Amino acid sequence: MILIVGATGLLGGMITQQLLAQGKEVRILVRHNSPSEGLAQQGMATPAQTLIDAGAQPVYGDLKERSSLDSACQGIDTVITTANAVLRGGDDNLESVDLHGTQTLIDAAKAAGVRHFVYTSAAGSAPGHPHPLFDAKGRCEEHLKKSGLTYTILKPGVFMEIWIGTVVGMPLSAGQPVTLVGQGACKVAFVSIVDVAAYAVTAVDNPNAENQEIYIAGPASYSWTKVVEAVGRATGQQIPIQYVATGEPVPLIPPSMAPILAAQEIGDSLIDMSETSSRYGVDPTSLDTFAGRFFGAGG
Ligand SMILES: NC(=O)c1ccc[n+]([C@@H]2O[C@H](COP(=O)([O-])OP(=O)(O)OC[C@H]3O[C@@H](n4cnc5c(N)ncnc54)[C@H](OP(=O)(O)O)[C@@H]3O)[C@@H](O)[C@H]2O)c1
Repeated sequence: MILIVGATGLLGGMITQQLLAQGKEVRILVRHNSPSEGLAQQGMATPAQTLIDAGAQPVYGDLKERSSLDSACQGIDTVITTANAVLRGGDDNLESVDLHGTQTLIDAAKAAGVRHFVYTSAAGSAPGHPHPLFDAKGRCEEHLKKSGLTYTILKPGVFMEIWIGTVVGMPLSAGQPVTLVGQGACKVAFVSIVDVAAYAVTAVDNPNAENQEIYIAGPASYSWTKVVEAVGRATGQQIPIQYVATGEPVPLIPPSMAPILAAQEIGDSLIDMSETSSRYGVDPTSLDTFAGRFFGAGG
């Protein structure tokens, strides 16, 4: 039995559906106050009911409540967590969920005799990283490695669906120019969520994935300027671009994204996927494939 924590999110929902489609037994951690029904209407979450209808077994739990995690982990072979608090709020934050919640889940899994723990981190995460999210993820990676559990740490780059969907998609829908920070010239290691889900699914029961950190990106890195050109090709239009200096507000996108866009302009970020994709049998999604799927006709 596999326990998915974060199943009502975008990535966790995709992983759950793929494992169920393979005939695997899947338990999902579900909260009473999950905002996923509402977020799903904007394409930003997966309703628990959709997963239950597909065969997932719900169990109540919250990363802030150790006892609920102890119960949820009973009889589980593999835990996969994608949970995070970035789109939540109130009591759910970086400290309570991403850091302590994940570490508590690792402890509960160990105590319940879970064999394998698959943790969704992010490329660049490390303890002491100046950005608190990357620091928290780095500290969870260390906690997991020290736990004695068999681990797989997924280290994806920047999600195309979330970042390109917002930075390019929001201005496109509003009929406004796309705003890029700096020159929009540095190469960013984008990855499709579809690929990240494929790695999580393939990590289950795969000896190659045991005690591995897996960096995940597309077949190449792309600058934001190239991204806007690709979306222009997919939608058959020349998309106007305006530029703002680092530190200036970026119109139409959530303020929390602007510092990360600025950080992406410090230098190129490159992840060579040739060996990893053949080792795990996952074909990386290119920028043009993503843009056609997400923005093109029928996207
Ligand atoms: N966005 C990127 O570019 C990027 C890049 C690299 C790595 N990542 C990582 O990829 C992972 C998946 O991202 P995503 O966009 O799919 O996430 P998401 O859609 O925001 O999903 C969040 C999930 O976390 C759960 N959660 C939040 N607080 C919780 C709590 N207190 N107890 C239990 N569950 C809780 C939510 O459940 P409820 O519905 O109950 O709130 C939901 O299922 C994250 O770990 C993220 O950091 C993202």
